[in-house]
Amino acid sequence: TEIAIQMSTILYHGFSNSSFIFKKDFEGFKNLFHRFLQVKGPSVEWIKIQRPPEDSIQPYDKIAARGLPDNVANSLNKLVVVKLNGGLGTSMGCKGPKSLISVRNENTFLDLTVQQIEHLNKTYNTDVPLVLMNSFNTDEDTKKILQKYTHHRVKIHTFNQSRYPRVNKESLLPVSTNLSMNGQNAEGWYPPGHGDIYASFYNSGLLDQLIEQGKEYIFVSNIDNLGATVDLHILHHLVSQPNGKRCEFVMEVTDKTRADVKGGTLIQYEGKLRLLEIAQVPKTHVDEFKSVSKFKIFNTNNLWISLPAIKRLQEQNAMDMEIIVNPKTLDGGQNVIQLETAVGAAIKCFDNALGINVPRSRFLPVKTTSDLLLVMSNLYSLEAGSLTMSPKREFPTTPHVKLGSSFTKVQEYLIRFESIPDMLELDHLTVSGDVTFGKNVSLKGTVIIIANHGDRIDIPAGSMLENKIVSGNLRI
Ligand code: UTP
Repeated sequence: TEIAIQMSTILYHGFSNSSFIFKKDFEGFKNLFHRFLQVKGPSVEWIKIQRPPEDSIQPYDKIAARGLPDNVANSLNKLVVVKLNGGLGTSMGCKGPKSLISVRNENTFLDLTVQQIEHLNKTYNTDVPLVLMNSFNTDEDTKKILQKYTHHRVKIHTFNQSRYPRVNKESLLPVSTNLSMNGQNAEGWYPPGHGDIYASFYNSGLLDQLIEQGKEYIFVSNIDNLGATVDLHILHHLVSQPNGKRCEFVMEVTDKTRADVKGGTLIQYEGKLRLLEIAQVPKTHVDEFKSVSKFKIFNTNNLWISLPAIKRLQEQNAMDMEIIVNPKTLDGGQNVIQLETAVGAAIKCFDNALGINVPRSRFLPVKTTSDLLLVMSNLYSLEAGSLTMSPKREFPTTPHVKLGSSFTKVQEYLIRFESIPDMLELDHLTVSGDVTFGKNVSLKGTVIIIANHGDRIDIPAGSMLENKIVSGNLRI
């Protein structure tokens, strides 16, 4: 309590003197911080975890088999597309919003999203709007770019998520008591995870505005998931449920492979579907959690959520999400924590929540330049802002690509490829060290290229590498 009071006093001065931060942010942070202080022990008891009931996670094919009505436009007019756009491109060595990184033919994540929705609106003669949830880190740069879409057939709205103070790991006091974003204070603040969407959307007034316009569902996804396109079958399934049985929340999940062991999974807990994240799992059960056989699916973070339900839960103060404590070390070496929440964790609060097991193609995240290489290659073709796997690839699985640290930053990665290699028949690629690729290289099967420290390997233009290990001058 003492900490909470001190914290409140310090922050209240900061917040109330500020024209940047709204009182709502202060209220939101105070609630989260109080909850954090009260929490004792793990958020789930392992023995109470149950497998979700048979019909609570439905195969996508079953949903799609019902077909589409003639009036698809009626359903689309009830929909709003929301992209989570609070994140920066730091992990790929870029300054500014991640959504502004070029991913394919000079198109950024944002360009592709706009193209997809514009295509939908033109095809069905609808006005599906796009909403971007920005953070204080991304808002200014994003808004500058939005001007270029003024004459496109998609109305774009933005709202800002909250800005909360980081706190010292030991003292739990705020790192910055000054609200200025300049210099050393910039590190004192953070956007509190995508679970913030509910409160920020509600507080912005946009949620009410959209409900008044007759909108019923939002389709929310990570802006860096290129597979998260509007799916008409899922939408139709939602809007055609009889009143009283309305499904208020759909989480798209997909089959877990050994590469996805960290993703959150759906469980049945106290009679409700619930998202279980690795951070909530007691150490002794982590291996069990990672196993592909017990927890078979994971959350893609493609979510369909009822707008009136969000409003109701916000107004009843009933939106309940587990707190994620995210430790960080600041540039000066200070250890801090930031309290976050995840949008999918609210599934347990909604009525008739459902998981839909979708094809893997709906989960195409670009987190690293290795992912970027895949989506830039001839494995995919681009049409109206959507990427689809080339029919020329014989297996529907994507190759496993691991680029070394010389490729981490997008700028450096781009310089190392004169053109993107042909990867149609590639299964596995590992590249390490100072390696460059000439024009029209073709990679097949398993290819491993390792330049030792001080060496450099230039793959000549036009080469075809099939099941090869290249290391120094040695070729096997
Ligand atoms: P991240 O890239 O940070 O998370 O954000 P992740 O590693 O994919 O894993 P999950 O989904 O958190 O489990 C995913 C999306 O959420 C946005 C990012 O911009 C990105 O589109 N995001 C994240 C926000 O909008 N606000 C936040 O506070 C955090």
